[in-house]
Amino acid sequence: MSEENKGRVALVTGANRGIGLETVKQLAQQGMHVLLGARDQAKGSEAAKKLKSEGLDVEFILLDVDDAKTHAQAAKAIEEKFGKLDVLINNAGIMLDEKGSGGFAPPSKTSAAIFRKTFDTNFFNTVALTQTLLPLIKKSPAGRIVFLSSGLGSLTLHSDPKSPIYNYKVPAYDISKTALNGYGVHLAYELKDTPIKVNVAHPGSVVTDMNANGNLEVDEGAKTSVDLATLPNNGYTGKFIHLGKELPW
Ligand SMILES: NC(=O)c1ccc[n+]([C@@H]2O[C@H](COP(=O)([O-])OP(=O)(O)OC[C@H]3O[C@@H](n4cnc5c(N)ncnc54)[C@H](OP(=O)(O)O)[C@@H]3O)[C@@H](O)[C@H]2O)c1
Repeated sequence: MSEENKGRVALVTGANRGIGLETVKQLAQQGMHVLLGARDQAKGSEAAKKLKSEGLDVEFILLDVDDAKTHAQAAKAIEEKFGKLDVLINNAGIMLDEKGSGGFAPPSKTSAAIFRKTFDTNFFNTVALTQTLLPLIKKSPAGRIVFLSSGLGSLTLHSDPKSPIYNYKVPAYDISKTALNGYGVHLAYELKDTPIKVNVAHPGSVVTDMNANGNLEVDEGAKTSVDLATLPNNGYTGKFIHLGKELPW
């Protein structure tokens, strides 16, 4: 446990399972008070209860990224209870692309409806939540904002025939993450003269419900988010990072 994290309040979205749940655990192990965000009351409370029973300072908060009412309720609750938010990890994400025997549907066959629904959660509503919580993050002496993107959001890697993801394309998901990368860069620029650091994480290819074929376990998968949430005051902002290494946009 680190003394300097005492009194710091973190919020992780989509944290009832997968990388988000592990991120909550690791941040709490570092001494933060962590709000475990989940859209399902029962699943979120259960996950928080389990971590609390391990002695961790974790509390459930209802947060459906697709429901702005819960954004406002969460902001009000955080304001009243803590008066600030030190860390926001935008972890919740979905992959809706249709999978056939030959891989995911190509861009020519991916419907606008799938693009729209994917962008709603992974981009538009994540942007809206971040904007709602920003006034509270500005009240922190050392705010940190992390966007969970993916290496699959990198146009540089997607257009390089030598890259490991060149032949792995999940159009709606990938491009929603590319958009998120763009937002991260722009928000980092806007906040560059403040104490807030804004960075984008690629967790790695991690075994979760979203990715049965990952090559990392969740404890490794959560590390990049935790590193970016705990950057020192002289740390970087506006970067795309995987396990301490910079990725191309
Ligand atoms: N796993 C990988 O290899 C990998 C690689 C690169 C990037 N990522 C990114 O890392 C993040 C976490 O992924 P994961 O692998 O842990 O996925 P996961 O196991 O599928 O978990 C996704 C989480 O997001 C939540 N969620 C989805 N829509 C939500 C909404 N509208 N409001 C609130 N929560 C919502 C889910 O809640 P419910 O239980 O209620 O559905 C669940 O808790 C995602 O942004 C993903 O794109 C993952």
